[in-house]
This record gives sequence, C-alpha cells and structure tokens, in this order.
Amino acid sequence: MIYDKAKLLSEVARRRGFFWSSFEIYGGMSGFLDLGPLGVGLKRLITDSWRSLFLHPHGFVEVSTPIITPYKLLEASGHVENFKDPITECTQCHRRFRADHLVKEQTGTETEGLSLEQLGELMRSKGVKCPECGGVLGAPQYFMTMFKTSVGPFGEDPAYGRPEAAQGIFVNFRRISEVMRERFPLGVAQVGTVLRNEISPRQGPIRLREFTIMDFELFFNPEEPECPFLSEAQEEILSIVTAKTREQGKEEVTKVRVSQAIREEVISTPWMAYFMSLSKQFLASLGISEAHQRFFEKLPSERAHYSAQTFDHEIQLDRYGWVEVAGFAYRSDYDLRRHMEATGTDMRIFHQFDKPVERTVVVVKPRPDKIRGAFGGNTGKILALLASRDLPSLIHSAQKSKMVKIEQYEVPLDFFDVHSDKVKEAGSRFIPHVVEPSFGVERLVYAALEYGLQMKEDRLILSLPFRLAPVQVSVLPLVNRDELQERATAIFTMLLRHGFRAEYDEAGSIGRRYARADEAGVPIGVTVDYDTLKDGSVTLRDRDSWAQVRAPVDSLAATIGKIVSEGFPKSRSSTLYSG
Ligand code: GLY
Repeated sequence: MIYDKAKLLSEVARRRGFFWSSFEIYGGMSGFLDLGPLGVGLKRLITDSWRSLFLHPHGFVEVSTPIITPYKLLEASGHVENFKDPITECTQCHRRFRADHLVKEQTGTETEGLSLEQLGELMRSKGVKCPECGGVLGAPQYFMTMFKTSVGPFGEDPAYGRPEAAQGIFVNFRRISEVMRERFPLGVAQVGTVLRNEISPRQGPIRLREFTIMDFELFFNPEEPECPFLSEAQEEILSIVTAKTREQGKEEVTKVRVSQAIREEVISTPWMAYFMSLSKQFLASLGISEAHQRFFEKLPSERAHYSAQTFDHEIQLDRYGWVEVAGFAYRSDYDLRRHMEATGTDMRIFHQFDKPVERTVVVVKPRPDKIRGAFGGNTGKILALLASRDLPSLIHSAQKSKMVKIEQYEVPLDFFDVHSDKVKEAGSRFIPHVVEPSFGVERLVYAALEYGLQMKEDRLILSLPFRLAPVQVSVLPLVNRDELQERATAIFTMLLRHGFRAEYDEAGSIGRRYARADEAGVPIGVTVDYDTLKDGSVTLRDRDSWAQVRAPVDSLAATIGKIVSEGFPKSRSSTLYSG
C-alpha cells in the first residue's frame, strides 16, 4: 500500500508527543522544531547509544562549551569568510530563496559548490522561476548564515551563534590535553545546540535553523595515522559514492571493504574509515537497514573550507530522498593551526623519539633591553607572556606584519634575537591532525521514527527497538475499578524499580489505549484484569504482532527480559508463560 509516510509521521509525532513545529500558537516559524516528552526521550536514548558506541569503548571524553561565540574566534576559524549560502530574491513578490536548492529542485542539476556566476547562468538558461508566484528571480548573492549578535549592554563585543560545536573543542585543545595528561590520540566530543540562519528552509524537520550536533574531534599524529581499533572493522563493506565516480557524472555506489578503502586511499585516513564503519552499525541499530545507507563523498568544490576530505553519511527518507545524517571530515591541522596563529597558544603535542636525534633548530630570544626601552614598566609582563608561548611559531606568523602580537602588545620583530642551533632532541612537537564524525541529532530522531513507522490493518505502529523506545512497557488496568487500578499501580512501580521505562495508563477503553501505545512505540503492554486478582497473572501484549500471553506477576520483570532477548512467544497461549 502506498502512503505518505512523512505526512503520517508528522501526524503521529504531533499526536503522541514526539515533535511538532515550534511557536505554533503564534503562527510558527520555519526551521525550528519542538520535541515533546517522547521526542526528548528518544533523543536522549539516541545520544546515549552514540556515546556507548563511539566514545566509551575508545576512552574519548566529552566537554560542553558556549553557543555564543566571539567574532574573533570565528574569524580565525574561517567561518566569517566562508559560512555563507547563495540567496536569490523574486523580483515580483520579493520572497527570498536558497538559489542552489531552487535550481536543484527545478532542474535536477547538482549545485553544491557552484559559483554565483554559474548558478545565475543555470537559473537563466533553465528558466528557474519563483516557486511562490512564478516571477523572475534576481541574480544570486551570498548570505552569511551565522546568527549575529552582540554581547554586553553597549553591544561592544560582536559575536555569533556557533554554527558548529567543534570550535569549542579546538580552542580548548591545550587545556583538555593537559587535563587528560597528554593522552594521545585523543578524542573529544560535544553534544550541543548549533545555529544556522538557513535561507527559507522548506523541508520541515529536516532542515532546521537550530539543532543539536553530536560530534567528536579525533586528534592524531599525522606521522602515526594508524587506528588501533581497525582490526575490528577491516572486513566491513562500505557503500560509497566516490568523488571519482561523481566527477564522471555518475552516482553509482562502490562497495568497498574498509581495509581496501584505506589501501587504495579511497578514504584518506584509517581513523575516518573506522568511524565510518561504526556509523553504519550505529544507523543500523536505529532501524535503518544497510540498503538505505550510503556514503557520499563531497567534491573539493563542495567541501567545507576546513576539510581535506569529506563523506556525508546519507540515508533514504520517504519524502526527502537521500539525506545527510552525519558528516565525516578530515580537518587536518587546519583549525588548531588557525587558532595557534591567531592567539599564539601552543597547540602542539610532544612526541618522544625512540632515541634522541640531533637537529638544527631555530632559537628565539626576546631582547629585554629593547623591550624595556619601548614598553617600560610592562616589560616583566611581556617577557612572562612570551615565555609561555611557542616563539618560533610566533615569529613565523609575524613575518608579514613585522610585529609579534601578544595580548594587547605589539612587539617589533627586531626585538628578538633569532639564530639556528644544533641540539639533541628527545622528541618533537607537532600540531595534531583531526578526523571529525558529526551527527545531526534531530535528523536521527526523525529517521528512527520514519524507519519504525508501519501500517497494520489501517493502524499505525511505531516499531522502535526495545532499547530505543522512550516508553518500554505500558501498564493498563482492564477497566477503571479501584482494585484493578491499585494492583496495576503496584505493578507499574515494580517495573520502574527494575529499571524499565514504564508508564501507567487508565484513560479510555482498553482498545484505544492499545492503539495509543502502538503509535507511541511502546513494545509491551501489561494488562491487569480480574484474573490477576485471583491467580496473580497478567496479559502481556506485543506491539508489533498484537499477540498476547499470560504470565505471572511474580516473575514479570524476568519474563519481559526474556521477551526482549528471545522475541515474543508466537502463539496465543492460555497457559502461563513462566518467564
Ligand atoms: N562540525 C560539523 C559541521 O559543521 O557540520
């Protein structure tokens, strides 16, 4: 049967409290989504299951940093210059649209990475029109998609809402590395809100202006790029649409073993290949079968400014087609280097050699006499600041301006003695390289719901796996009589104590309550009836098959555990299921 899954899902999601558009009673605002009680539950279970798979087994750590981010930081990271999308305005109705998306929708042409001129030319030659009024569209221009704000009562400090959580990790790298006693390679994660002022988002819950990103930065030594966990993944097969295939104008999937993808440099670093194979497993655990997943490599012109190689992990959604739910970017040392250059903070890691090596090094010594002549009483402070910095790097980045900037001071280059020296080195310092897997959480919530949604005899069932069900067991008195309600409440409390996510529901007929629980994705119903009072047994009902069995209350928790691991008993049975 053909049905509009996206429409049904949005109805069920609203009815049962998974999600709905924000600010409804004020007419709504596109690009914002509210999660209801069940949506929050599902989101938490998805983020926790991501932590269990990606963070805990590898000893990766998690941090939390602010959403409001200083202008200076995002200027250094390259976002101020690069975080922009092409916009076009209708000359007739003056509505504004994302030019590349319109061209793609109306002509089917892939548009990512095209210049403004190329987009404008396509719009003219293919007759792309305003989707609202059919009017002629103006020439595309860039629109900065970070939300701008200012901090303080006089708006003295310009700032942006962060467009990615990663920068909070990069700027803290030095400190986190110290806290972690310089453990290396080091994985640092963050789950948090990001803001992107999308131009006219029209894809409901899929394209949001405010959403949760769940990502981590894996810092590694580019001289030692091996991933110690790879042996567990090298036989895994990945479905990749490679940049090479795309450059030939095709979108075919290449199936490639992880080991082969690394050997043939389809994926440029072993860590990234390993995380991609975990990601495949992660999405499968959310109910998205492998056949509906692919990795889509970005062309150089489409990649974010910081990335040397990017794969989008895409899944097929009913209304929206192939949609990115995760991105894998090889960020090299781009971000740490930029922050090191902008602030002078030493972002390097010490790498001990097997035996000392003689090397020629640049030695930089500040000249206190000259500094005192120019800076007087501030000399001590400036010398202390300089002592805490990597001077050769500072000198290197000051070649153009001829000034070494340190906090508010600008010290001329010729206030330093610079010479080469031969030294025996026990090790060297390097700027770590970074691989970043990054997931959009609301999209994963949406995808898990869409893949769970089934139709059975004209009724909707949300077949979420038991692990992911925000409510796992509904306890239902058959009718609203005191003695049944009391017994059901006691069973509900007992299940909570056993650690199940249980709910108690007595509102409406038993048939309506079953239907409601099916839509809410509750895998098991426990019905308390008059027989319960007589023989201490309850009815267990399976959400997906609607099968029912009787089981004793005394061993109910064990029985549910058994059902979760072995599946629901197939036939309806009047005998007690002993658990
Ligand atoms: N840092 C992940 C992203 O920008 O998508």
